[in-house]
Amino acid sequence: RGKRAFIAGVADDNGYGWAIAKSLAAAGAEILVGTWVPALNIFETSLRRGKFDESRVLPDGSMLEITKIYPLDAVFDNPEDVPEEIKANKRYAGSSKWTVQEVAESVKQDFGSIDILVHSLANGPEVTKPLLETSRKGYLAAISASSYSYVSLLKHFIPILNPGGSSISLTYIASEKIIPGYGGGMSSAKAALESDTRVLAFEAGRKRRIRVNTISAGPLRSRAAKAIGFIDMMMDYSSANAPLQKELSADEVGNAATFLASPLASAITGAVIYVDNGLNAMGVGV
Ligand code: NAI
Repeated sequence: RGKRAFIAGVADDNGYGWAIAKSLAAAGAEILVGTWVPALNIFETSLRRGKFDESRVLPDGSMLEITKIYPLDAVFDNPEDVPEEIKANKRYAGSSKWTVQEVAESVKQDFGSIDILVHSLANGPEVTKPLLETSRKGYLAAISASSYSYVSLLKHFIPILNPGGSSISLTYIASEKIIPGYGGGMSSAKAALESDTRVLAFEAGRKRRIRVNTISAGPLRSRAAKAIGFIDMMMDYSSANAPLQKELSADEVGNAATFLASPLASAITGAVIYVDNGLNAMGVGV
């Protein structure tokens, strides 16, 4: 049978998660997605009304099919973690079983196992604030949504990730070099995510022969990136300074994810793979 992938962090057709879903589907994988609870309704409605049909087309002319969409909020591990105000929130009350543990249980019940786990989500409520102006609450929220969410996902999915499977997340170079404007502790969150990629590669590799890698992606005008406010500047900077002077397409990141998930990458684990037109290799702007 083909491989089965669970992709956390798909809520429209503009982000990396969507592009990864398309590339994996084009390679024959079955696609399950986890969509942030507050974004679920509009995503499902748009999908049903055909709003994404143009971007659902795969290279062979067929359409991306998402076998099942699971509501997910990756900052909560189990129902005991959910505060009353969230439980009472009407955007949440309409869905159920959206904590990480419950989603993993539902996927197990529905499908038994998966082969590929993708984490394509991040959130930093104070991302527009410099680190020196970031509150403890904002900093910890960034780490919770953008870093620990990955530890938690892998922890809960590992029992149903088939041996030989692959797990992938998305990171950004602000973890290792100064990128003014990527604030609120998001640079710290990506540094944690990259460090965790190495430790998790060791633990998941020894435990279940699972590979764990992260893609350090160049700038893309996604919904999340637009919220940061500097995405156009980053894209201009990249096309002016990167070795490859072309726009980065989300599909190029999708294809790298498919490679990492495939047997072609069977000895690659614990790695940060740059898919950024080479911008990371520059030492000065030109
Ligand atoms: P996106 O907006 O398509 O994806 C982010 C997703 O995270 C959204 O679907 C959002 O609903 C979801 N999300 C937020 N909080 C959540 C939570 N608590 N539980 C579940 N889902 C939640 O944007 P994009 O940019 O494609 O982001 C995907 C990944 O790519 C992120 O890790 C981001 O940091 C990374 N990345 C993005 C770059 C860019 O320029 N767009 C550059 C490098 C990395």
